[in-house]
Amino acid sequence: MKLVFATNNLNKLKEVQELIPSRIQLLSLSDIGCTEDIPETSPTIEGNAIQKVQYIKEHYGYDCFADDTGLQVDSLDGEPGVYSARYAGKAKDSNANMLKLLTNLEEKENRNAQFKTVIALCINDRLHTFTGICKGTITKEKRGDQGFGYDPVFLPNGFDETFAELSLEEKNNISHRAIAIKKLIIFLNN
Ligand code: IMP
Repeated sequence: MKLVFATNNLNKLKEVQELIPSRIQLLSLSDIGCTEDIPETSPTIEGNAIQKVQYIKEHYGYDCFADDTGLQVDSLDGEPGVYSARYAGKAKDSNANMLKLLTNLEEKENRNAQFKTVIALCINDRLHTFTGICKGTITKEKRGDQGFGYDPVFLPNGFDETFAELSLEEKNNISHRAIAIKKLIIFLNN
């Protein structure tokens, strides 16, 4: 059985392939010849994940799953949320995004935040979603140089290190994305 993972990140693809039954063969977007940008115009993280899988099903006919992630900050009414990648503009510039976030939080006492990943899966004409949440706080300055995105300013609850100070293995034990992927894998294994 063939299942598309709507990504071109081959590391992500390989990681998931190793955890699911071998009767399911994962295909990337380039494997199915999808080179165009898939629309992501929903105002919610869940909506964007669903939009991606429905696009693949409609245009390419494959069963598919897709993930979408955002950082939601309580005192900013859930921002940057669905706009996390381009919070400071179109360039997807992580440093500019973190600077904007730290500036917007300067006067705020409540620095609670969470990363949220939603994986949408369209299989056998049914739609399923799997959510992973990692709660934490936003630091006052950047710390660490591992990871990507907002990792240097995100301090997961129960830890003294930011995501960018933890090893990849430590981050993968607790991350929003890992939690959602585990739920997907349990579903596929059943
Ligand atoms: P995507 O949906 O996985 O592309 O994530 C959207 C944006 O959220 C990324 O461009 C990053 O800015 C941010 N993001 C997602 N996951 C993480 C993470 O694990 N650490 C830090 N930032 C992340």
